Amino acid sequence: MSERDMNEHSSGQHDEENTSGEQAAGNEGARPTEAELAEMSRDEKVRLGLAQDDVELVEYPDPWPVKGTRAERRAERAVAAWFSLAGLSALAFIGVFVFWPWRYVNPLVDERGHFLYSLYNPLIGFFLGLSILAVGIGAILYSKKFMPHETAVQQRHDGHGSSELDRQTTVAELADAGERSTIARRSMIKRTAGFGAGAFGLGTGVLVLGGMVKNPWAETGADSLQHTGWLQTNGEKVYLRRNTGDPHDISLVRPQDLAPGGFETVFPFRESERHNEEALLHALRRSDNPTMLIRLRPGDSPVERKGQENFNYGDYYAYSKICTHLGCPTSLYEAQTGRLLCPCHQSQFDVANSYAKPVFGPATRALPQLPITVDEEGYFVARSDFIEPIGPAYWERNS
Ligand code: FES
Repeated sequence: MSERDMNEHSSGQHDEENTSGEQAAGNEGARPTEAELAEMSRDEKVRLGLAQDDVELVEYPDPWPVKGTRAERRAERAVAAWFSLAGLSALAFIGVFVFWPWRYVNPLVDERGHFLYSLYNPLIGFFLGLSILAVGIGAILYSKKFMPHETAVQQRHDGHGSSELDRQTTVAELADAGERSTIARRSMIKRTAGFGAGAFGLGTGVLVLGGMVKNPWAETGADSLQHTGWLQTNGEKVYLRRNTGDPHDISLVRPQDLAPGGFETVFPFRESERHNEEALLHALRRSDNPTMLIRLRPGDSPVERKGQENFNYGDYYAYSKICTHLGCPTSLYEAQTGRLLCPCHQSQFDVANSYAKPVFGPATRALPQLPITVDEEGYFVARSDFIEPIGPAYWERNS
C-alpha cells in the first residue's frame, strides 16, 4: 500500500476499493502512518497487527515462566539429542553411501564380502530414515516445549492482498513468537538443529547427486554401461545358453529347439568359463545379460532396423529382455500378435512387424537387438555385443 493510501486511511478517507479492506482490518482509526510504523517497537507492531486482524489474545503464556529449571534443561537436552541423532544418522548415511562395498560379491567366493555387500541397501535406508525421523521428532518436540501456546480468537473476514502494514506486523509477530520460544538463548538447540538439519540436507544432496557423479562414457570396459556380458573378448565365441537352474549344466541353443512362435530366455556362455563357477553364475545373474530369443511365425515379416538388417538369423530374432522404460523383464511374448509385453507398466514391443519398437505403454525406445548367427556345429552364437546400451535411457545417451 502506498504512503498516500495510508495517509488517506489514517485521516478517515478511503475509496470504495479499500472499504472492505478497512472493514476487514477492523480498527481503522489505529492505522499509523508509514513514519509512525517505522518508529514502532516490535512489541507494539505485534499488538497492532493482532488488532488489525481482529485477533484477541485470550492467553499467551510463557512456556517456561521460571527460567533454568531442571525440567526446562531436560526438555532442551531432549530436543538437542534428537537433532544430534539426525545429524549423526545423516553423516552415517553419507559414509555408507560413499564408502560401503556395494558391488555384488559371489558368496561362494567370498562369504564375508557377500555379507557386507548385502548390508548396503538396508544400511543406507536405515540411516536416511532415522535421520528424517529424528529431524521431525526434534522439530515437533521443540515446538511443543518451547513455542508459546497462545489461545487467540479472531473474527472471520474476507481476505485481501497484504499491505505494508500487514507485512510488517506479521514479521513482528513471527519474530516475537521466535523470541518467546527463547531460541535466541538456547545455543545448544540452535547448534544441534543446525548440525542435524545441515547434515540431513547434505545427505539428501548426496542421495540426489551421488548417482550422477559417474560419467557413463568414461568407462568403456566389459563392465561399463555400454557393454553387457555378450561382449566378445579375444575372439572367443559367445554361445546362447539356457538357464536350467544349474550353472554347470551347459545347455546350448540350436535353431531346431524352437517351434515357430516359440521363444526362450538365453544367456552368454564361453567355453573358457565352463569350469569357472563364479563366471558361470555371473553370466546368469548379470542384470543386462538376459536376452529373448524369438522364432517368428511363418508369414511374419518385420521391418528391419536401419543398419541392423542382418542381426537376425532367418526367423530368429534376439532382443534384450530389459525393458527400455524402467528395466523390468519383458518376459511375456504373445505369439499371436507378435508382441513382447512388459508386465510392469504394460509397454508392448512389436516383434512381428518391426524391430521391437514400442507400440503401447510408457517405453519410448525399441529393445536393443543382439546380432546372432549359427556356428558350424549348429549352435546359436552372438556375432557381437549389443550395439547400444540396454535398458532405461540415461543422460547423454544418443539412441
Ligand atoms: S518397466 Fe516396462 S513398462 Fe515400465
